Amino acid sequence: MPSVLLYGSYGFVGNLMAREAIDRIEDGDADFDLLLAGRNGDRLREQVDDLERPGYRFALEDPDTVAEALERAEADCVLNCAGPFSNTAGPLVEGCVRTGTDYVDITGEIPVIESIADRDADGADAGVTLLPAAAFSAVPMDCLAAHLVDRLPEATTLAMGVDSLRPPSIGTVRTLIEGFEDGGAVYRDGRLEHVPTAWRTRRIDFGRGERPAVTMPTGDVSTAHYTTGVPNVAVYALMPQPARLALKSHRYLAPLLEPTPVREGLKWFAGLVREGPSSRSRKRGSTYVWGEARVEDDGGEFGGDESGEPTERVVSRLQTPDAYVVTVEAALAATERVLAGDAEDGFQTPAGAFGPEFVLALEGVEGFFDESKPESAPPEVDVSAP
Ligand SMILES: NC(=O)c1ccc[n+]([C@@H]2O[C@H](COP(=O)([O-])OP(=O)(O)OC[C@H]3O[C@@H](n4cnc5c(N)ncnc54)[C@H](OP(=O)(O)O)[C@@H]3O)[C@@H](O)[C@H]2O)c1
Repeated sequence: MPSVLLYGSYGFVGNLMAREAIDRIEDGDADFDLLLAGRNGDRLREQVDDLERPGYRFALEDPDTVAEALERAEADCVLNCAGPFSNTAGPLVEGCVRTGTDYVDITGEIPVIESIADRDADGADAGVTLLPAAAFSAVPMDCLAAHLVDRLPEATTLAMGVDSLRPPSIGTVRTLIEGFEDGGAVYRDGRLEHVPTAWRTRRIDFGRGERPAVTMPTGDVSTAHYTTGVPNVAVYALMPQPARLALKSHRYLAPLLEPTPVREGLKWFAGLVREGPSSRSRKRGSTYVWGEARVEDDGGEFGGDESGEPTERVVSRLQTPDAYVVTVEAALAATERVLAGDAEDGFQTPAGAFGPEFVLALEGVEGFFDESKPESAPPEVDVSAP
């Protein structure tokens, strides 16, 4: 039986992932053994006692320690849920390459995805799959991007967006704070380009009527580019006006946030709140994912409000359960498929590895709605528009 080492298993998402994996194993629905892992001995021991699974405590500073731990655990695949991934993906990928262990994570951080893409040849030489972003960001949008380009193969520009208004877990807040100084990012002419925070604004009909959205630097920007090869990619998120203004003003606040004491203070504050979204809120939550592929003669300006008419344009949508539910489902499904040998060696994106239909196999996902909207979409009352 292959084994999966879940690193960061006692974090908010790691714990959801562990419990769901164990339920599946006990119901005979999963063909792997689960190993718990992390750097904090006390938290790990508590979880090991609670869930009655083996645990491996190791920190990530020293590559030899990481490789030794993976050898000792005889892990076939690492599933990394320890974020910010800017601190954890590098050492774990290195350990996986050294020990011939497959690697899956749930990052939504662009620089992390880009750095794993840079290790494509190392992964291929070592005979291991390196698959980041098997989570809400980026599975639905990555699959939607692949689907849109199946519909419009000559597409030069992808604009995609998500409507999901719900407080994130504290780990996600910490990751956002960590990424503050990076501002925004899009792919333009095949190259990752840094742009200001909330660079473009656009009114998008995610499936519930038009709502205001701004560009966001989520990992979907990178995965959609690598999966489809489309040279221009921008990702939007629904943003009510107060949040939009706050984000725009961040351009001017960024230098204030950068000095370490302020950022550390924010992280400390974020650390005071321990809980992520409740089980009730996760059950009730849903998200609307929208995507547009265009053929534009001038190479594309992301279809923002101010851009001209494209020569061709297709729109598709998806509706999904709560982002944390999708994250657990997507990461476990991707891990099982990697263990089954369904993904090639080297760097892979979710849709690149498993095709656009991968997302449709996740419980509760509906789509693709081509040019139409989800039937269940409730009427939208937009109280936030300027
Ligand atoms: N892509 C997506 O759609 C998506 C969805 C959900 C979450 N996420 C991301 O997943 C991450 C986890 O979220 P969460 O809510 O579970 O956060 P959390 O509750 O704070 O858990 C984070 C875990 O990471 C560990 N960790 C952090 N830095 C580490 C380091 N340098 N070395 C070793 N372990 C480290 C923590 O262990 P210690 O206690 O030892 O620090 C903890 O176990 C966040 O980055 C979040 O943004 C992404």
